[in-house]
Amino acid sequence: MLDTPAVPHAPQLDERALARALSARHYIGGAFVPARSGASFAVVNPATGAEIGRAALGDATDVDVAVTNADGAQKAWAKLPARKRGALVAQCAALIRAHVEELARLIALETGKALRTESRVEANTVADVLEFFGGLGSELKGESVPFAPDVLSVTVRQPLGVVGAIIPWNVPLLLMSLKIAPALVAGNSVVVKSAEEAPLTVLRICELMNRILPPGVFNMLSGYGPDCGAPLVAHPKVRKVTFTGSVEVGRIVGRAAADKLIPVTLELGGKSPMLVFADCDFEKTVMGAITSMRFTRQGQSCTAASRIYVERPIFDRFVAALAARVDAMVMGDPLDEATDIGTIISEEQHAKVSAFIAEGLATAGATGRACSRLPHDPGLAKGLFIRPHIFTGLTAASRLVREEIFGPVTVVFPFDDAEAVLAEANDSEYGLAASLWTNNLKLGMDLAHRLEAGLVQINQNLVVQANLSYGGVKSSGLGKEASLESMLEHFTHKKTIMVNYAP
Ligand code: NAI
Ligand code: MG
Repeated sequence: MLDTPAVPHAPQLDERALARALSARHYIGGAFVPARSGASFAVVNPATGAEIGRAALGDATDVDVAVTNADGAQKAWAKLPARKRGALVAQCAALIRAHVEELARLIALETGKALRTESRVEANTVADVLEFFGGLGSELKGESVPFAPDVLSVTVRQPLGVVGAIIPWNVPLLLMSLKIAPALVAGNSVVVKSAEEAPLTVLRICELMNRILPPGVFNMLSGYGPDCGAPLVAHPKVRKVTFTGSVEVGRIVGRAAADKLIPVTLELGGKSPMLVFADCDFEKTVMGAITSMRFTRQGQSCTAASRIYVERPIFDRFVAALAARVDAMVMGDPLDEATDIGTIISEEQHAKVSAFIAEGLATAGATGRACSRLPHDPGLAKGLFIRPHIFTGLTAASRLVREEIFGPVTVVFPFDDAEAVLAEANDSEYGLAASLWTNNLKLGMDLAHRLEAGLVQINQNLVVQANLSYGGVKSSGLGKEASLESMLEHFTHKKTIMVNYAP
């Protein structure tokens, strides 16, 4: 067990010192507390393999304490005027803004995501999301219904109670903010279960926000999924669950919510297609493929363009240009400003992604182009780096084409016909996101309407943005995040009140 120095009040740019300071604690009822069992587990820097801190090993006892605190705090929180709750959440945004550099360095250390291309961007988006939802308090409004003369019939939006939020490690700050901000503004209290691999930066955010929010409104637990996440979902006082992660666990969470008859939002995996037509702006589209594939996040994104279909006349040129661009990207120390590409999150994910690459390379007729270079720095010798791979020559039946790899691996196919490529794009268990690249907007709009995905972008492929509804169809999930709709539909219920004032 590391000794844990006091958590600094001011921004702490020494990410290693901050990781130690945040070690081995949950955040419950407005204070840091160790696990009731006293146990903790290692948090590892994936760029070196070194232990950077500990996380409290939460279990059902800790869950009960956190949920009881959240339940106790929720009623007074819900009684505050909605605009006041929003104003407090917006105030949290300003505090996060003042700590962006600190949070960016810590998340880079914890996850191996490069500081310049990923971590700093993510830390800023948390403030964006809190600002956006902070302004929506007044939108928690109802309708008046013309039921009968002398009867005033209205609907009001009410919070659900305690929200249990389970988050993953790939974009933990952003994905957490998309859950807690609307939940809190709507008058719920929250208990977050962080991801095993990335518990520290979200804990810092929780502590920062607790300087502004009343105690018990925002609580955080760390621990393993089955031991800490499952009891959170099952706790009788948790009245809503929101989850981002794998399809497999999404099904488990969905079943547990069904047993309790509580609403659930699920944001799961993807195998997002990118359709490139010969009339596209070539250079912009090649750069777009790099963004779409999230190569700077090592492809660890549920919206990664992991299937790219290119119209045959430009297929060879496109693959060559994409490979050349990715080849020029710098893989290295996530905390180095020169680095474009950092590491995979964990040994487990490294092994999984490596197995997909090996399978692709062993497939007869397939070509896998390995791009960029592993870093030379001996200090990074144990780092979980994987060279980005661009595959061609696979068949649609390949596991690399059908399954979510969640690594820097994309497959590229030529196509001849818009209808045929649409059918191929839709031939997937998933339906999270898609992009298409063409200057023929008539064609683009037609295909956009027919692609089976929750989010379709033409001639761009941005990450989730506050104010745009985000969520998948098919096995990619249930429900929407990031928008006003997500707050109203997923974190409130509509109550009808009737007043008879007939004389
Ligand atoms: P996971 O789904 O196991 O973990 C996500 C979260 O769920 C973590 O906080 C974990 O502790 C929790 N969890 C696990 N089992 C649970 C249970 N029985 N009850 C309640 N909570 C539970 O994902 P993992 O293992 O980190 O990654 C595996 C694959 O999942 C990835 O390769 C990727 O394909 C996909 N994934 C998708 C994400 C997305 O953004 N949609 C994010 C992370 C992973
Ligand atoms: Mg798992």
